[in-house]
Amino acid sequence: MHKSSVLFTLLISSSFCLETVKYAAVIYRHGDRTPVDPYPTDPYRNESLWPVKFGELTKTGIQQHYALGQWFRKRYSHLLSTWYDSSEIYVRSTDIDRTLMSAQANLAGLYPPKGTSIWNKALLWQPIPVHTVPEAEDELLSMNRPCPAYNTEHEKYIHSKTYRERLRKYQPLMDYLTAYTGFKVKNYADINRIYNVLFIENLYKFKLPNWTHSIFPNKLAEPAGLSFTELTATPLMARYKVGPLLKEVLANMFSTMTEKSTKSTKVSIYSCHDLNIGSLLNALGVFDGKCPVYTATILMELIFDDTAKGYFVKISYRNTTKIIEPNVLSIPFCGTRCPLDRFAKLYENIVTVNWERECNKQFPPILGISFFVGLGIFGMIYMVHKICFNKVYRRQGSPI
Ligand SMILES: *[C@@H]1O[C@H](CO)[C@@H](O)[C@H](O)[C@H]1NC(C)=O
Ligand SMILES: *[C@@H]1O[C@H](CO)[C@@H](O)[C@H](O)[C@H]1NC(C)=O
Ligand SMILES: *[C@@H]1O[C@H](CO)[C@@H](O)[C@H](O)[C@H]1NC(C)=O
Repeated sequence: MHKSSVLFTLLISSSFCLETVKYAAVIYRHGDRTPVDPYPTDPYRNESLWPVKFGELTKTGIQQHYALGQWFRKRYSHLLSTWYDSSEIYVRSTDIDRTLMSAQANLAGLYPPKGTSIWNKALLWQPIPVHTVPEAEDELLSMNRPCPAYNTEHEKYIHSKTYRERLRKYQPLMDYLTAYTGFKVKNYADINRIYNVLFIENLYKFKLPNWTHSIFPNKLAEPAGLSFTELTATPLMARYKVGPLLKEVLANMFSTMTEKSTKSTKVSIYSCHDLNIGSLLNALGVFDGKCPVYTATILMELIFDDTAKGYFVKISYRNTTKIIEPNVLSIPFCGTRCPLDRFAKLYENIVTVNWERECNKQFPPILGISFFVGLGIFGMIYMVHKICFNKVYRRQGSPI
């Protein structure tokens, strides 16, 4: 009876559902955490006031990601077997406690052991691998791996007129913050640092100091949100910062489409930070300017449409900690369902990055030439000097 109703549902849904998700890249922010770095005059700087150490995932954060993992199980049950199959899923996290823990809590919700995979009846959990690399080697998620070419472009950007004029609007606010927080607030990231701490203290029902009343949350929210556009402000910056991730996602989509192999990865999960979420949305041209919330999730799904007999990219964004159906975003110049080839063409500027080579090839040719010319001149001076010096030395050093 139960089995036949499941079968009936399957029949109904397969005959009416013309769109199927064939592959999904899931990019989420970690769950609820304590402040990472309270400002110097913060009355709540004492770590013992908090449930866990600074910057760590809280119990609420664990619960949020567990619930999200359960929701993924429902959404992707046609892609992911109930039994863990290592060829179907790949999970990657930044090398930070809160994202690693978020991924693990999420996977506990996504892969509760069933039947013979239960290994301890008192613990309905099973280990699922979460991959990571050290931050300084991670261009995919931590975005902290050194990239000289990016730094050059970033410097150019923050000295541009557009950037400086927009920031100047917030100078009075930054002076105000500098006066009360005990540290020099000089850009959007600094504003966001304070906004983020106040947001958490408010969430945890700490009484905020009087000086915050005139600016929190309203006056801080907008410039704090702008901090998420900074890393990907120009097409070249976007290429370096989100190129590697978008390139990987697109490669998975194309291999799903072409190989039609049952062996290819069905779901990739990336556990990361608000900065990843904001930067990716901004690079895609769909950022709404709001600080990404805990567990904010971008779903990049490859859809097969049986009527159109084609593959489409659909991007959805869950901008709340609640478990709800995410909003489908409209991809600029393409809409809510973007043909895969067209999508790849639209973001060609970002996804064609050859990260390692381009990051370290920062000198323009003219500088390279000057370097060798300089080296040549130096060499000649050295030789001349050495010959003369040898003569002098011989003259002086020769026995009388
Ligand atoms: C933090 O609070 C604890 C408990 O109230 C107290 O023992 C400790 O001295 C405080 N530390 C600082 C640096 O104020
Ligand atoms: C903050 O403001 C309240 C009322 O506006 C006042 O009673 C309190 O003394 C002020 N606190 C400080 C630290 O100035
Ligand atoms: C989330 O996104 C939707 C659609 O873009 C928007 O209407 C809503 O206000 C957003 N919610 C928050 C909390 O930003």
